[in-house]
Amino acid sequence: MANASGFFTPSIPRLGTKIQPFTGISRSGFCFSRRVVCSSAIEGAEKHVSPSESRVPKLVSKGCKLVGCGSAVPSLSVSNDDLSKMVDTSDEWISVRTGIRNRRVISGKESLKNLAVEAARKALEMADFDPNDLDLILMCTSTPEDIFGAAPQIQRELGCKKSPLAYDITAACSGFVLGLVSAACHIRGGGFRNVLVIGADGLSRFVDWTDRGTCILFGDAAGAVLVQACDAEEDGLLSFDLHSDGEGARHLGAPMSDDKTEELLGSNGSVLDFPPKRSSYSCIQMNGKEVFRFAVRCVPQSIESALEKAGLVSSSVDWLLLHQANQRIIDAVATRLEFPQEKVISNLANYGNTSAASIPLALDEAVRSGKVKPGHTIATAGFGAGLTWGSAVIRWG
Ligand code: ACO
Repeated sequence: MANASGFFTPSIPRLGTKIQPFTGISRSGFCFSRRVVCSSAIEGAEKHVSPSESRVPKLVSKGCKLVGCGSAVPSLSVSNDDLSKMVDTSDEWISVRTGIRNRRVISGKESLKNLAVEAARKALEMADFDPNDLDLILMCTSTPEDIFGAAPQIQRELGCKKSPLAYDITAACSGFVLGLVSAACHIRGGGFRNVLVIGADGLSRFVDWTDRGTCILFGDAAGAVLVQACDAEEDGLLSFDLHSDGEGARHLGAPMSDDKTEELLGSNGSVLDFPPKRSSYSCIQMNGKEVFRFAVRCVPQSIESALEKAGLVSSSVDWLLLHQANQRIIDAVATRLEFPQEKVISNLANYGNTSAASIPLALDEAVRSGKVKPGHTIATAGFGAGLTWGSAVIRWG
């Protein structure tokens, strides 16, 4: 059965009661069972996991709650004045048009993976949670340091001994919201109980630092949230609303292109276009005006839809937390949804647009500063390349 938030929530007895095997087909077409077998370990990894541990049937849970958060940023801070020495711009232009004053950029021996691990450790510490008890790690990033993804390496760095499933989600600035909803789906329908959702991006590596139209916007960071199975009454993901539009991809991207150096060297020596040339990703190309229009049009609609599914109105929600792309976008969406400024979370001035990291980074700062308290509701939304956009109404703690 699908509930108001669009989730499939099979009716199950409480923990401790005797469970009869049962399967069926819901009206929404989902095949469901009261007990699911959750096995996330690969065969070769089973030497780390006893067969009974990897094959233990787990209960499908009705709710999921956000119990810990953490974040990490690189040490190098780049101000608008620093940028004005590199391109024809000024602190005034950047701060008036975007609200950004500083951004952090990965440098030296720093890596995105290490930032993600630091953010993850802080989230686990806040929840007083042992990494060995994680069932799943979702790494939301568009800039992994390995083309095959970063999540399994993060799993190793965290020292998770039971080889929990770990994989990447690529959805640019919507990545974290998609990760949160994916975590909830895994928990509610897949038998997972403890899911770590990380949003991390190092877009500075894909920025053309001679292009004043884009280089002023982006920074690097990581943020993480631990999502845990719970009873329905404690549920912390009240609703969501997700979209993509590949038509809009032309407005924002970093497409793959053939390696020109190799062409010049003639080292390939190929005929008939085989073997293929080596490729790399180009710098971020963006039609800022179109992306701006898309955001102020689609994000309020998406949040309104999520609020409706949750049976809430904006005045009954404690906080608005949008992907931190441009203060003018944040202000326009807040005005349209009638959120007063004091209920809007923004840390864009210090970090710029950190893509999938921006929402968990801002959430972490707001939680640690005591702004967001347990029980507070937050309307959150991500939007960006793809194009992808989506929102969720969540309850902290
Ligand atoms: N400094 C000074 N002048 C500049 C700069 C700069 N950094 N950048 C552009 N200009 C100039 C332009 O050349 C133009 O000059 P002209 O009038 O002589 O031609 C003028 O300023 C206006 O340029 P616009 O591009 O029209 O400026 P706009 O007000 O649209 O602001 C901006 C540009 C800040 C990029 C804005 O469009 C924006 O924020 N768009 C949304 C971007 C966004 O949110 N992206 C999300 C990406 S998330 C992801 O998925 C990766």
